Amino acid sequence: MPLADMQAPAGPAEQRQITYNDGSTRTVYVTDHEIPYPDGRLIISRTDLNGIITHANEAFVELSGYTREELIGQPHCILRHPDMPKAAFKDLWATVSAGKKWHGYVKNLCKDGSHYWVYATAVPNVRGGKIVGYTSVRRKPSRRKIEEMTATYKEWRAAEGGQA
Ligand SMILES: Cc1cc2nc3c(=O)[nH]c(=O)nc-3n(C[C@H](O)[C@H](O)[C@H](O)COP(=O)(O)O)c2cc1C
Repeated sequence: MPLADMQAPAGPAEQRQITYNDGSTRTVYVTDHEIPYPDGRLIISRTDLNGIITHANEAFVELSGYTREELIGQPHCILRHPDMPKAAFKDLWATVSAGKKWHGYVKNLCKDGSHYWVYATAVPNVRGGKIVGYTSVRRKPSRRKIEEMTATYKEWRAAEGGQA
C-alpha cells in the first residue's frame, strides 16, 4: 500500500522524492535538524513478514513524532530518510529473511522532517522453526560513527545514481 505524502513542516524544509523498493513513490520533507538519540533508552519495533509495523515501544513513538496509531499497520519505510541508500535495506532484508541477525546504522526521518541516527540490530522472530516477523532494537550510535556513515551512505547513494 503506497504511503501518503508527508505534510510540509511549518518551517523551512527541502522537498525530496523517495522511490521505494516496490516502485511506489512518496514526497517527503527534510530539515537539517537532528534529534540526538535519547540516552539510556532502547527504541524497539516489530514488523510482520512484509515490514508492516506491528509493535512500537514508547521511545520509538516519541522520537518518530507520529502517534502509535499513525505507525501501527504502516510499512516501516514510513521512517525512511531519503539520504539512506537502498543497499542498506537490501542487505537488512536479505539477512533477516535468511534467518540471520543484521546490524547497521540507520538515519530515520521524523514526521516533522527532523532526523535521528540509530545503531540497529534486526532479528527474525522464529516460532516452530518458521520466521513469523522481525524485531529491531536500536542503541545510541557514537558521533564518530554517525560522521563516518554519513560519508559512506553518501558514496553508496552516488553509486546508486543519486536517486532516493
Ligand atoms: C524489523 C525491521 C525494522 C526496520 N526498521 C527500519 C527503520 O527504522 N527505518 C527504515 O527506514 N527502515 C527500516 N526497515 C526497513 C524497511 O522495511 C524498508 O526496507 C526501508 O525503509 C526501505 O524501503 P523500501 O525497502 O520500501 O525501499 C526495517 C525493517 C525491518 C524488518
